[in-house]
Amino acid sequence: MIKDILDLDRYPLDREGSPGWQRLVEESTAALNANGMFNLEGFLRPGVAEKAVAEIRPVMDTRSHTHKRMHNIYFKPSIPELSPDHPALRKVETISHTVCADQIPGSIVLSIYEYEPLVRFLAAAMGKPQLHVMQDPLARANVMGYRAGEALNWHFDRSEFTTTLLLQAPEFGGDFEYRTDLRSDDDPNYDGVARLLDGRDLEAKILRMKAGTLNVFRGKNTAHRVTTVEGERERMIAVFSYYERPGVVFSDEERIGFYGRAA
Ligand SMILES: [Fe+2]
Repeated sequence: MIKDILDLDRYPLDREGSPGWQRLVEESTAALNANGMFNLEGFLRPGVAEKAVAEIRPVMDTRSHTHKRMHNIYFKPSIPELSPDHPALRKVETISHTVCADQIPGSIVLSIYEYEPLVRFLAAAMGKPQLHVMQDPLARANVMGYRAGEALNWHFDRSEFTTTLLLQAPEFGGDFEYRTDLRSDDDPNYDGVARLLDGRDLEAKILRMKAGTLNVFRGKNTAHRVTTVEGERERMIAVFSYYERPGVVFSDEERIGFYGRAA
């Protein structure tokens, strides 16, 4: 039952339009506008994150896709107006392990992803008329794992919003670090990017997230990374993909790029 999974007493997603629901939407929208993100701490009821991790772990340990690459903050081979040795193109390393939706049928993670009141709440909080789950059997919901020595390095997101649910925090490191509005749609701010990559941007902030927190983040122009994980416990985070139009799927090429397989 979804009410045993999500804390609907604290976050009344199931009472759409009620004063409590309205307040939650308003607070979430206000936080998005002010800070570029909102967090629903304790979104999962106590013990649920651990159960979700127990479901994922065997798949993560044996069948996840390990992706290790050197990349720049743009995830692009080059930027036409920058010389290849420009410091904004400095390379960083990302290592992650991905479990795809098709590998975890019937899981707690997928039941949350598909929970219609959550999709409607997210649309309202983001100011969208509607959001839809993806049809892509692999990409709909992913669980990313980061182990000792691994990190998701500096990047900007492709999508306007990213929705994640932290299932397990590591012992040390694995923190979410972000630099709000490092660039804008009109100004790429390459010198600012170079400064950040060089560790000289004093406005970068760190967010230590707790397991069971739902996070919605506006990451198109806010550079962000997950710092290197330390210790035995793997950082595990579910990434939920929703789109404004129904029926979205990735191309075979995108699936191979992200997951190492087309189907
Ligand atoms: Fe991101």
